[in-house]
Amino acid sequence: PLVSMTEMLNTAKDKGYAVGQFNLNNLEFTQAILQAAEEEKSPVILGVSEGAARYMGGFKTVVKMVEGLMEDYKTTVPVAIHLDHGSSYDKCKEAIDAGFTSVMIDASHHPFEENIETTKQVVEYAHSKGVSVEAELGTVGGQEDDIIAEGVIYADPQECAELVKRTGIDCLAPALGSVHGPYKGEPNLGFKEMEEIANLTGMPLVLHGGTGIPTKDIQRSVSFGTAKINVNTENQIASAKAVREVLAEKPNEYDPRKYMGPARDAIKATVIGKMREFGSSNQA
Ligand code: G3H
Ligand code: ZN
Repeated sequence: PLVSMTEMLNTAKDKGYAVGQFNLNNLEFTQAILQAAEEEKSPVILGVSEGAARYMGGFKTVVKMVEGLMEDYKTTVPVAIHLDHGSSYDKCKEAIDAGFTSVMIDASHHPFEENIETTKQVVEYAHSKGVSVEAELGTVGGQEDDIIAEGVIYADPQECAELVKRTGIDCLAPALGSVHGPYKGEPNLGFKEMEEIANLTGMPLVLHGGTGIPTKDIQRSVSFGTAKINVNTENQIASAKAVREVLAEKPNEYDPRKYMGPARDAIKATVIGKMREFGSSNQA
């Protein structure tokens, strides 16, 4: 069933695993992720950035596509449709009104008080509709869609505690050195701060930039209260690689099903690997 993230993430935090957020880019991504979740008996979060929603047609297209697939696939595991890096109150409201069950309000690049004000507004509207809210503090490095981070700023634990107390959010993404897209070298995550923030806030924490984080860092993050890990680039790389292989081998191929089908299988295999690594398999 379609649900918010709240129960999913509180359960994950209690039991010591993380639920994956896998981003949608098109129909095949959606199919692959839903198939993986059902096969693994894993709860799953479908992440949709504003740019990806625009590409697919809009928020309503995304909701109806997911609902249609869940009906055809007879999905039994809990699924959340989550706005990834929502840029404003209006965008969050638009997604909620279209049927999203969860939103992220990313006001982390605004001054602290403004971040709190906007986040509070989003929480008020979202909670009145049973929708969960994720907020961010600090800056995730790299680029995702229109969001380009200049420098990586680590989230401040005291600010995290204050934001959680004053806004009533359901989960928190403190930027602690993670990067969108591939890492240049090994990631350098602020585990000390992560532990402090988890203890101060009691919130399920979210780790953005899940692509390329070594298993030992994933395990450490989960042990410090990380209950949601976002992955997009790794699936994009797997899908593009599969398409390149088919077209290189058969330069005259033109049926999209012949190269998008293998892309879908590659995404599915990647997602299954992540679900096992995050510990969410067999938890639904
Ligand atoms: O919000 C989405 C994620 O943080 C994706 O990060 O593309 O590096 O896996 P990634
Ligand atoms: Zn992100």
